[in-house]
Amino acid sequence: MNWSTQITQLLGTKYPIVQAPMFGVTTPEMVAAASGIGALGTLALGDLSYEKCMDAIAVTKKLTTEPFAVNIFVNSMPELSESLRSHYDKVSSFVTALARQHGLAVVLPKFEEIHLTDYREQVAAIIASQCKIVSFIFGNLDDGSIGLLKENKIVLIGTCTSVEEALILKKSGVDIICVQGLEAGGHRGSFNDIAIPQIGGLALLSQVHDQVNKPLIYAGGIYNANTLLAARQLGAAGFQVGSLLLKSEESALLDFEKQRLSRVKESDIVLTRSFSGRFTRAIKNTFIETLDGTDYILPYPYQNKLTNALRTAAKANKNIDFVGIWLGQSIHPYRDGSTGDILKALIREVEALTD
Ligand SMILES: Cc1cc2nc3c(=O)[nH]c(=O)nc-3n(C[C@H](O)[C@H](O)[C@H](O)COP(=O)(O)O)c2cc1C
Repeated sequence: MNWSTQITQLLGTKYPIVQAPMFGVTTPEMVAAASGIGALGTLALGDLSYEKCMDAIAVTKKLTTEPFAVNIFVNSMPELSESLRSHYDKVSSFVTALARQHGLAVVLPKFEEIHLTDYREQVAAIIASQCKIVSFIFGNLDDGSIGLLKENKIVLIGTCTSVEEALILKKSGVDIICVQGLEAGGHRGSFNDIAIPQIGGLALLSQVHDQVNKPLIYAGGIYNANTLLAARQLGAAGFQVGSLLLKSEESALLDFEKQRLSRVKESDIVLTRSFSGRFTRAIKNTFIETLDGTDYILPYPYQNKLTNALRTAAKANKNIDFVGIWLGQSIHPYRDGSTGDILKALIREVEALTD
């Protein structure tokens, strides 16, 4: 198998395999391990502040000199209003009471304590830290940020979940498009928070390939050689894997969360807005079952901010009913061991089928 593609050329990696950014799961160690074997590690910066982005990038740079990407959320913000504030108070009271009923004492932040990050401060941190590759999700960067990043010769990877989103990304000058199929674990990368396109990976990748002339990375359901080669056949030149690495040594999931993966059934994996206000593919639990379909869900990022403290308390108490475990539809024997070994095994499996 000749691994050289447009993606390896643009990213400067040996393999066109991308360790998916997984905010809350990816660690600098995971990024260094992926980049260390010649894949592309991605440091998930989520909605971290300028200072926290600078720190996380500095830690990662100490662990690897190989290319790695950073990933940010570029969502728009809901308008501040009295009705949003009163909705927040209502959800906060409900969630606090629900957690108490299940033995979790939590203090959720007050509305005025919530700090929202403008992604432009993250762009400034990325430029100041001399990063070389940035991927983003939940929309498109504004023209000013694209201009600044390009002036600094930073490779841009935008995420699409429809052909329409891919065309917008292409028009604005991104270098690479990450095509995220509906089966992918974690948040839908869609531009719209609520009216999400629901196109499966096969249909989406093939159409984006036919209609959008850009190097493509595919994300969603890749867990072995066959799934990777299927994406290659449909036009992907890069392959992003997330769920495959959830149980790795470098994953920030705790043991009780990793153990939950071994028992997961297909009916457990759902798309939910309960945790963040945006659709996320996750493992169903009491929290999701109680909130889904109710009015106790705020627009993103308020629901996410509100449930952060809940999830932290649930982790500390090993309470599986209130943690958020994001997971894609491809159930497989989630391997433990190092990120490097898991990715090397995937590479060997592909080579065995193709050489
Ligand atoms: C736990 C978890 C967290 C994720 N967090 C992010 C993130 O911070 N940024 C992002 O662009 N994508 C995120 N994703 C989506 C992945 O980048 C990727 O699209 C997905 O993992 C691919 O599907 P798979 O899980 O079937 O491999 C996350 C996925 C998971 C499983």
